Amino acid sequence: MDKAKRKAIIAGNWKMNKTATEAAELIDALIPAVKDADCEVVICTPFTSLVTAVEKCKGTNIHVGAENVHFEKSGAYTGEISADMLVDLGVEYVIVGHSERRQYFAETDVTVNKRARAALAAGLKVIVCVGESLEQREQGVTEELVRMQTKIALLGVTAEEMKNVVIAYEPVWAIGTGRTATSDQAQEVCASIRKVLGELYGETVAEGVTVQYGGSMNAGNADELLSKPDVDGGLIGGASLKADAFGTIVAAASK
Ligand code: 13P
Repeated sequence: MDKAKRKAIIAGNWKMNKTATEAAELIDALIPAVKDADCEVVICTPFTSLVTAVEKCKGTNIHVGAENVHFEKSGAYTGEISADMLVDLGVEYVIVGHSERRQYFAETDVTVNKRARAALAAGLKVIVCVGESLEQREQGVTEELVRMQTKIALLGVTAEEMKNVVIAYEPVWAIGTGRTATSDQAQEVCASIRKVLGELYGETVAEGVTVQYGGSMNAGNADELLSKPDVDGGLIGGASLKADAFGTIVAAASK
């Protein structure tokens, strides 16, 4: 598989951090830190910072994403945000199925699929998160679990739409714990995700899909993780909130 066939993408997932005012300050620091990137740079911010982020990132190489989206087009869904609302703001990307949504907000593989399809239909690029818990890893079911999550998330998604799909492998036990997967563990699962994509869509499509690793990726370990043939980028939590650390990760992906 040829890594050069796909785009390296470093995406920050800010989670529930930064007011809009603080977001503006962070983006001011991020713009110079990533301006020489030779990879795609994305920041996924809370809904309340999206307007600020889109405005500030205009004319820069930073693309803006949201952290979630509802699957209905509109209607009586108090507190929810539709894909059209994001598109109208100038948002380009959205994360779906993050393990924190699965864990705390009753997200299931089926609702991940509904969100992914709604977002793709609206023209958004979708970062689909998959990954096993520590218990599942210890039970030896990581590959089966991640295969299943990937397959269900992509039900009804066409080969053409796969151009706008990124898969993020995020082992739950590595998120926010400082305990990163080894580069071999990340490679093994990212490769098995690409294998499923090949089964679903054929080799050519599978070779073109960006598969990211996420989970305690930082300025110190990004180089090693990104050196692996099937690790095409990163979805970064904590380290995306520090301009210098994020800049270093982006530089590692640009080599
Ligand atoms: P951390 O980088 O803070 O471990 O978070 C990873 C993550 O969940 C990105 O979506």
